[in-house]
Amino acid sequence: MERFRSVSFRYDVLNAALFLSAGGSRRVRRHLVEALSLRRGDRVVELGCGTGQVTAALIRRGARVTAVDALPEMLEATRRRAPAAELILGDITTADLGPVVDRVVISFVLHNLDSTQRAEVLKRAADALAPGGSIGVLDWAPTRPTRTGALWRRCLSTFEPSTNVVELLDGELERDVEAAGLEVAVRRRVANRRAEVLILMPDAGERRD
Ligand SMILES: C[S@@+](CC[C@H](N)C(=O)[O-])C[C@H]1O[C@@H](n2cnc3c(N)ncnc32)[C@H](O)[C@@H]1O
Repeated sequence: MERFRSVSFRYDVLNAALFLSAGGSRRVRRHLVEALSLRRGDRVVELGCGTGQVTAALIRRGARVTAVDALPEMLEATRRRAPAAELILGDITTADLGPVVDRVVISFVLHNLDSTQRAEVLKRAADALAPGGSIGVLDWAPTRPTRTGALWRRCLSTFEPSTNVVELLDGELERDVEAAGLEVAVRRRVANRRAEVLILMPDAGERRD
């Protein structure tokens, strides 16, 4: 009974319902993992791992994953789903991302942060990348100025606890990406075009490869 009341259980149920028409919550995350072009043994830091859906997919692809989250209960769910991952309890805006990594993964986390925090997290992620490394982001996509877009905005603003989500729907992530000295190498709309996968790399002037 306790399990059904837990944040992690409710999060997974909400995600299952939310992405049902897009082939399921795991499938949406799989688009992100596929876009990362991982090689076996790649070192990956995942920021805001939640219940570990992306973590488990990364491990299945042979990555060595360190996953960070601020909530012990979410980390516990990740431990059950992806026992091979190294887990860190901490704040992603200040956590030490450790030695250089091949990929940083941020799935449905940036919409929780304000613009300054988003740029800071992206900048810290960029600083942690090995030459040739990249950052994979999955989050809500900008909405179009149509009736369907307006309806989706209202709907999302109702169930998303963070008021910052509207900034992503307005396309403000683009500015944060630039502010962090990054550029979009790949952009792919997923989940019936409601979310997008971005692969970010240091912009040409700053690249170390
Ligand atoms: C919407 S969930 C996404 C979870 C997972 N990445 C996914 O794709 O399902 C956001 C997660 O980020 C974590 N989070 C949000 N802000 C954070 C912060 N400043 N530091 C660490 N974790 C944070 C929350 O605890 C939550 O587990």
